Amino acid sequence: MTLKADLAREQGAFLRQSRSGWGTHLTEVRGFLGEGLRGAVPGAPVLILGAGAGLEVPWALAPPDATGWDADPWSRVRTFLRHGRWAPWCFEDLTGGMEALGAAAVRGARQTWSGKARRTEKGAARAAGLIRSLRPEAGPLRAWIARHRPGTILAANVMGQFGVVAQRAVEKAFGGHPPWVGDPDAQDPLEEAVNDWTRRALEAFLGALGDSGADLWLCHDRGVVFSQGPFSLGPPAEPWTAQLRSPEPLEVTDPLVGLDVRAAFPGRTVAESRRWIWDLAPWQRHVMEAIQVSR
Ligand SMILES: C[S@@+](CC[C@H](N)C(=O)[O-])C[C@H]1O[C@@H](n2cnc3c(N)ncnc32)[C@H](O)[C@@H]1O
Repeated sequence: MTLKADLAREQGAFLRQSRSGWGTHLTEVRGFLGEGLRGAVPGAPVLILGAGAGLEVPWALAPPDATGWDADPWSRVRTFLRHGRWAPWCFEDLTGGMEALGAAAVRGARQTWSGKARRTEKGAARAAGLIRSLRPEAGPLRAWIARHRPGTILAANVMGQFGVVAQRAVEKAFGGHPPWVGDPDAQDPLEEAVNDWTRRALEAFLGALGDSGADLWLCHDRGVVFSQGPFSLGPPAEPWTAQLRSPEPLEVTDPLVGLDVRAAFPGRTVAESRRWIWDLAPWQRHVMEAIQVSR
């Protein structure tokens, strides 16, 4: 329930933002996902993960029974309002582990016997220990795939959200007292534990997609740039930060916590991979990545 309420709030805020700098991104992402829908394996189910409000998804190209998946309770209605399409939908948590993560954070933040809040540093250390033991397994996604055997799966800009949503869930457990150390030069065991959890969640998600045997069309935030100065992308390079061109150092974060998505499908052909810049806001620009993995 917490996840759904949080996602509904986040998506509402996201959709209310000015879209003046979104043109390039929307053209690129709709073009890429549209290609996936046009080339969908005939006769096999199509699954669209992180379908959201359908801003990025050209639903008109989707086969009649294509299924949307998004835990935001308003996503299906918004898709209907935008595309006139009342698609079959799944509202489950794609990581399969957000509830356990929230519960572990609450157990760390509060005494189990009295419900009283622990001192923030003590609670954070305890929560970090508990979170380290969690293994999100993308259970609902694996179960859906086993049942429906999709031939084509699109991931429409959802992976970069796992870490953000995980951080929010942990912050919520600590009420009004942010549990993070705050000093960027100091170690923060709780932040590290949440980052490691995010990495495990992403690996489980990509593992489920890889095992599905479906054609995969994956679009996601490869990185986020918070500096306001100019920057561009040079020729393709790895890691993604080596592709950044800027006269000044840039403040960047990695929502995929170091994971190389293209390397997550050993034995399968990565047919296409490209990147572009999404000017989400003047102070927040995303390096987007689109990857196609063939069966
Ligand atoms: C950046 S938005 C994608 C927007 C969407 N592709 C569109 O066209 O409107 C990310 C979406 O992922 C969903 N999401 C984030 N974490 C999720 C999770 N753990 N399980 C299911 N959906 C999730 C959010 O509700 C949100 O709609």
